[in-house]
Amino acid sequence: MNKDWMGKYSGSSSLGLRPSSTEQVSQILAYCSLRRLALVPQGGNTGLVGGSVPVFDEVVLNMSAMNKILSFDEVSGVLVCQAGCILQTLEEHVSQRGYIMPLDLGAKGSCHIGGNLSTNAGGLRLLRYGSLHGSVLGVEAVLPDGTVLDLLRQLRKDNTGYDLKQLFIGSEGTLGVITAVAIQCAPKPASVQLAFLSCPSFAAVQQVLRHAKQSLGEILSAVEFLDQESMAMATQYLPGVSNPLAQAGPDAAQQQQQGGGGEQGGPFYMVVETQGSHAGHDKEKLEGFLEAVMADGSVADGTLAESQAQAAAIWRVREGITESLVRRGAVYKYDLSMPTHKMYELVQLVRQQVAHLPGVKAVGYGHVGDGNLHLNVSSPSGYSDELEQLLEPFVYEWTAQQSGSISAEHGIGLMKAPVLGYSKSSEAVNLMQRLKVLMDPHQILNPYKVLPGVEHMGRVE
Ligand code: FAD
Ligand code: MLT
Ligand code: ZN
Repeated sequence: MNKDWMGKYSGSSSLGLRPSSTEQVSQILAYCSLRRLALVPQGGNTGLVGGSVPVFDEVVLNMSAMNKILSFDEVSGVLVCQAGCILQTLEEHVSQRGYIMPLDLGAKGSCHIGGNLSTNAGGLRLLRYGSLHGSVLGVEAVLPDGTVLDLLRQLRKDNTGYDLKQLFIGSEGTLGVITAVAIQCAPKPASVQLAFLSCPSFAAVQQVLRHAKQSLGEILSAVEFLDQESMAMATQYLPGVSNPLAQAGPDAAQQQQQGGGGEQGGPFYMVVETQGSHAGHDKEKLEGFLEAVMADGSVADGTLAESQAQAAAIWRVREGITESLVRRGAVYKYDLSMPTHKMYELVQLVRQQVAHLPGVKAVGYGHVGDGNLHLNVSSPSGYSDELEQLLEPFVYEWTAQQSGSISAEHGIGLMKAPVLGYSKSSEAVNLMQRLKVLMDPHQILNPYKVLPGVEHMGRVE
């Protein structure tokens, strides 16, 4: 309850509450508001920016008992559920009814849909299904004074003035507690194809992305990349994980066991997925695409998943990088968006910056199809001021110079509150602060998160 998923942020709360209804959330907030008690809403606690744990002794509002699925409309594909439902449970529920959730991420087994909305999580298929700002149709939220705001509409079209539900998507529990969600699910694809590719350069990765968008168009559902260093992390630190391009045979198996199995192909890898309605047609398209990118040299080697098990093994490599880094030690995580051609330059610059520190490694991976880089710096000897000062504010300044965002999909939390200004103008931050004061006048909800300079917030004009 007090410690985040990475073990990086921790508070010292001695009170956790676990409401099971909207009414209970409302009563808790009304009481805390009256008594000026601060709270932190906590979903699956998989957030990566220190937003879901107390900073001091804030009450932890654990949402896990609000886990009921309220309805699913098999014609419209609209799911209505409480905020504490686990994403994977929802995926299983709608999958049995011919649909899929419009988002997927490595933390699906633990994260809550309420946490997903609160962080505006992106994930692996945003390229295809878009952001939650589009797929969420309705929200029920409790305001800091206990007022229940019923915006739980299920309509695709509803232009009735300000779209208030959007305020709760991406505001990381600073404006209200999300208690229920109505979300548009997508039809379950009849055919899913997956390719794992190796590319000689980051220029080649971009070339493959361009080709994929042009030739796979309407069936393209994910384009991800990872570098050799990320592959080495996954294969070395995750039991049973191997490079999908590794040659079968005793030598390869031995190499994997010795932690050297990450070296087949590279130095860049890509995961390209299609979701369509006709397996024969989709396979033909994917094979045509592969022929073209191999012929022009942008792909050196590749494999197509022939079974669900093979597809799962490929996804395990990509999704497992996060876990492998945490297993290795301390990790500085930067979740950035910027023009695609700039993405890997930053990884190389940071790698040079930390080259003199023994054991410190910079890795680059992410949602290249969305221009979203995950730059991670791993330090087996723990967090240190020396390392942090080499990375910050350099990474944020460099990203701002490219007109990028210092938080593409993970949010601001505690980690980036002081540096919000690199991606938002002072006018925009001021308006955010005014909204916060309007909606949470006693500053009880998730204090110290998202907004910089909380000490100034009382005198926002
Ligand atoms: P928490 O971590 O519990 O909370 C996150 C924030 O939301 C906090 O500020 C919290 O106060 C607030 N909050 C939680 N529930 C509520 C609520 N009901 N009402 C109001 N506020 C609330 N993120 C991505 O965007 N894309 C990825 O691909 C991705 N992959 C990940 C893979 C792994 C292995 C891990 C560990 C994390 C990953 N994440 C990813 C980050 C994380 O999973 C997401 O941010 C997720 O949406 C957080 O959900 P949660 O339920 O764990 O929220
Ligand atoms: C991912 O894409 O794997 C997630 O956002 C988690 C991470 O950045 O490590
Ligand atoms: Zn991500």
